[in-house]
Amino acid sequence: MMAIWLLAALAVSRAHQGLAPVFAPELDDDSVVHMQAPSSADACQLPPEWSGRWFLNEHNQPLKITTTSISLKGRCVATSESGYGQAKNYLFKLETKNDVCWRCMVFFFEHHNVLQFKESRCSRTGSAEMISQICSGFNGDDPMMTLFRADAHPQPCPIDAPANFTYRDMKGSCRSRMSTIDACASNSKLRLRFQACPEITYSESQVDDIECIGAWEYHNSRYFAAKLVNHPALFEGEKYRCFMYEKQSDGGRVGISADAACRGLIGVDSASTVIDYKIDSYPTAQCTFPSFLRHYHAEQGGGQKKWESVATSDIHRITADEWVEGSVASGENRSTAVCIQEEDLGKTHRIVVYLVSGCSRGYQCIKVHRRDEQVIEVVRGLLAPNALEACSEEYIDEHLMTYDTLLLAGSVEQHCPNHGRYKIHGCDQDNAASYYFGCSAKHQLIVNKQCRPNETGTIVLLTRALKTIGSSR
Ligand SMILES: *[C@@H]1O[C@H](CO)[C@@H](O)[C@H](O)[C@H]1NC(C)=O
Ligand SMILES: *[C@@H]1O[C@H](CO)[C@@H](O)[C@H](O)[C@H]1NC(C)=O
Ligand SMILES: *[C@@H]1O[C@H](CO)[C@@H](O)[C@H](O)[C@H]1NC(C)=O
Repeated sequence: MMAIWLLAALAVSRAHQGLAPVFAPELDDDSVVHMQAPSSADACQLPPEWSGRWFLNEHNQPLKITTTSISLKGRCVATSESGYGQAKNYLFKLETKNDVCWRCMVFFFEHHNVLQFKESRCSRTGSAEMISQICSGFNGDDPMMTLFRADAHPQPCPIDAPANFTYRDMKGSCRSRMSTIDACASNSKLRLRFQACPEITYSESQVDDIECIGAWEYHNSRYFAAKLVNHPALFEGEKYRCFMYEKQSDGGRVGISADAACRGLIGVDSASTVIDYKIDSYPTAQCTFPSFLRHYHAEQGGGQKKWESVATSDIHRITADEWVEGSVASGENRSTAVCIQEEDLGKTHRIVVYLVSGCSRGYQCIKVHRRDEQVIEVVRGLLAPNALEACSEEYIDEHLMTYDTLLLAGSVEQHCPNHGRYKIHGCDQDNAASYYFGCSAKHQLIVNKQCRPNETGTIVLLTRALKTIGSSR
């Protein structure tokens, strides 16, 4: 049934006159919703799982849904059975200074983060008792609207990546160049690179990074919603798109809505952009990461090691095939790498990896200096297009490499090696600047640099890695 009125919605969408102001300054403002008598408030409750802030196409501010009202729509005053199966009719009353609007709405809760609805036009007259009359006034040709939860937790994207694709959009068909979908380090993100095609006049290449927020099915059709995350100039309410997709074993087709209104996704072919993709693959591991990076020896209790970056606090987890760097704060993966070449140079290992970092990918030369059981230094080159060049001068330029020190999570403190007090060279105030090794505690180094007093602090020694644990000016 939905498919039928979606089709109708497409047909009339051009003629549709928006009822809501396009840029309402204060959508969160409840002042437009005048208090009703308590009895009528009890009469209509919206499901609590709809509550929250939601973006609607072209609106810069999110709408607020509570269990009794929706900003711009007013307060719910009555509910009844609808012609749409489980979905109910909700009657809303919106009162503004010198106007009143009674409106019937039907909702489709597609996903925790995606709520679709249809609504009738404003009726200037109405009452809770007139619900069936007002709701009968709207039919298949009212457009479907889509709401996207403002603080949606990202969800895994349902299409496979990496992939190659050709596409057709409103300007024409681009088949002569291969466009690509890249998997990002986080499984909720994809990078779509649309190539420019000579057969389309004025075609430009474009990169869209999308973050998936929810997938759903309707009558054997599969959909997902995503947010464009690399177009900062767009209003929040313009950043969302709906996707309809079909999968085959080696690829599939995806229809993408023209905007956040998500109208017209009746079939993949009717979408404003249609891509045909074939699954591609990333290089697989050719070697294994050195075992000192991976697990404890049996006498240390075995188990997987977890490394913590001194520079970023990110957590690095390394298995035989995969090196995953994750953010503790967001729980997301920042990068994943597989081992392509590995060379043991004694205390140093030189490893070429295939790295997916954020939504970029390429080969990278990594030098791992093994400082101690608990401390490694990791020096990374730039991303290279192939493994052969990764460790060439161009990609391991000293000034462009990134340096990080990783500490084994749960490192134990060590006693300082050079017990005593040391003067700092180059500090001309006599007796002022000094290092005390192991004075107040065996594992502590007290830095007392009076020429630069704000650098004074206490450092705990984890073998040769120095980790500041607090300032004691
Ligand atoms: C992070 O990477 C690991 C290992 O590949 C994977 O199992 C996990 O699903 C990833 N997590 C996210 C949020 O992408
Ligand atoms: C995808 O495109 C890349 C680069 O154009 C090419 O190397 C690769 O073979 C293609 N894969 C498929 C499955 O077409
Ligand atoms: C130390 O303090 C001075 C003056 O208060 C300030 O300019 C400088 O940036 C500080 N240095 C550090 C490392 O905080």
